[in-house]
Amino acid sequence: MSAGPKHDPQHVAIIMDGNGRWAKARGLPREVGHQRGVEALRRTVEACRSRDLSHLTVFSFSTENWKRPATEVSSLFALLRLYVRQDLKKLHSEGVRIRVIGTRAGLPDDVLSLIEESETLTAQNSRFQLNIAFNYGGQDEILTACKTLARSCERGELTSDDITLEHFEQALWFGDIPDPELLIRTSGEFRISNFMLWQIAYSELVFMDCLWPDFGEDQLDEALKTYRSRDRRFGGLATESAASR
Ligand code: FPP
Repeated sequence: MSAGPKHDPQHVAIIMDGNGRWAKARGLPREVGHQRGVEALRRTVEACRSRDLSHLTVFSFSTENWKRPATEVSSLFALLRLYVRQDLKKLHSEGVRIRVIGTRAGLPDDVLSLIEESETLTAQNSRFQLNIAFNYGGQDEILTACKTLARSCERGELTSDDITLEHFEQALWFGDIPDPELLIRTSGEFRISNFMLWQIAYSELVFMDCLWPDFGEDQLDEALKTYRSRDRRFGGLATESAASR
């Protein structure tokens, strides 16, 4: 019989999907779905903090989301601005460290300044870390890491034979962040959509029907319960083998 993991996850990652469908079902513009998505994000940050998790990573804007109509892209940028402006002080006072993970290329100057301000202000906080994957793509992250290591080789700092898993992981944007033990995707889709491709190698995947604007404490608890029922073997035989990082 499976004993299940000994510990609750420290790091939960979420693909917050279904804002558009939530709005459509109510005859509302998609932007309203995204706004309600921000409220769900606030609830989820609170719920994770009160359950002693150490990291939450959310997929807020993917490198593929540029394909959406310009009005929707700008509304997602506007929401990031609003979220940072409205919540930064509170998050900082609660000891939350904010990291924005993804490529900075193509982001407007004022968004870049806000990202820098949030990361700098909260850099010393250690109670909880909120990682916002924004302008993020997993393949982009892996390719960027390859280029970083190739440059080290060109400079003679490394040879290709010297490259270890640790070198590779350090070159990734999430390099200094523990891998998520649990990945949740809402909205009933069974896809990874280019999210944290390297880091989810051994994550437990939980797909939920709930649309993201309806997500909150109860749904997080349901996902944690599912996680606890899983047998994590990391390719070995015993539950929670030494491969757990
Ligand atoms: C997926 O729903 C969601 C997104 C592409 C964006 C997620 C963004 C937020 C929750 C708010 C932004 C938060 C910050 C911090 C910037 P979808 O639009 O793909 O939904 P659909 O599949 O039903 O159309």
